[in-house]
Amino acid sequence: MREKRKLDHLKLALQSNTQSNSSSFDELHFVHRSLPEKNVQESTLSTKIGGQQLNSPLIINAMTGGAFSTEKVNHDLAVIASETGIALAVGSQKAALRNKELIRTYQIVREVNSKGPIFANLSADSHVEDAMNAIDMIQADMLQLHLNIPQELVMPEGDRNFNGIIDKIHRIKEAVSVPVIVKEVGFGMCQETYKVLNDIGIEIIDVGGKGGTNFVWIENERREAKDFDFIKNWGQSAALSLIESSAYQDKIDFISSGGIRNPLDMVKSFALGAKGVGLASPILALLKEHGIEKTIDQIHNWHDQLKSILTMLGISCIEDVIGTPLIIGGTTKEWCECRDID
Ligand code: FNR
Repeated sequence: MREKRKLDHLKLALQSNTQSNSSSFDELHFVHRSLPEKNVQESTLSTKIGGQQLNSPLIINAMTGGAFSTEKVNHDLAVIASETGIALAVGSQKAALRNKELIRTYQIVREVNSKGPIFANLSADSHVEDAMNAIDMIQADMLQLHLNIPQELVMPEGDRNFNGIIDKIHRIKEAVSVPVIVKEVGFGMCQETYKVLNDIGIEIIDVGGKGGTNFVWIENERREAKDFDFIKNWGQSAALSLIESSAYQDKIDFISSGGIRNPLDMVKSFALGAKGVGLASPILALLKEHGIEKTIDQIHNWHDQLKSILTMLGISCIEDVIGTPLIIGGTTKEWCECRDID
């Protein structure tokens, strides 16, 4: 059942991402300045997340492993990450913790990318021992714990009881030796969630906003009755989730993800306080449609384009983008007013 679900996700994710063309990032505007006095070649893209220095802010976000045919996908993602110097998260490792034959579908990423930053991944609803084993399995540099409650509830075979999840995250954070990232999978986060996570000592959050891969839509497609269509717009975008994070940015490193389309979305994320940017289905789509080489070329291109935008803003590094003024319009502005955020 779990293997079939993983393959369904790979297939349906690419369709889910074509459901909407608009993005909250389009309601945010930088103010152009004509005299930046900067040289593109002096721009750097390095960033620090959870105390670890990363050469690029880009992260290939968690997708797969756990079905025999996904070993090839993880192999290719690891080649891409290694050639471009970006971080890579594997998909949920629960399958391999239950069936040792599947461990290889994850370990391939460490084999191919022996030195690059690799993130382990499990549900936040996991036990400490499983978290430790997931990290060891791929000698991970960080551990992602994912939150996906709407997905579980729409999934016919999904979990229904989420009691105790905060305590589980806390125990894992206390026990493991690598930084822990708590991430959403496409529903976004808010101040109230950040408060709880901050109170239990979480120092890295991937906001996983609405607007890209849509797991309510995907799970509804997998249901015979397809009766959860009405809830497919649940959640808040990455931009709104970052706007919600302002009171916590001195305590928590935020990663922007969910519906990131291009380098302008990435730089707007940095302006809203993000230190990194995760992409899942856009990388999968590039890989499926154009292969490894073209995906590598595209990521190099994004790196160059990021430096161009920093130069237009008169800025040389990501850290200095944080706090750059953005003019906010539309429903994003209304959200800020309703939530009393400046
Ligand atoms: C995912 N995602 C995901 N996340 C996670 O934490 N563990 C997982 O196992 C998976 N599995 C998975 C499979 C596939 C095929 C996709 C496309 C995505 C969610 C992913 O990491 C990310 O949070 C969301 O996809 C939103 O980002 P994008 O796709 O809009 O860039």
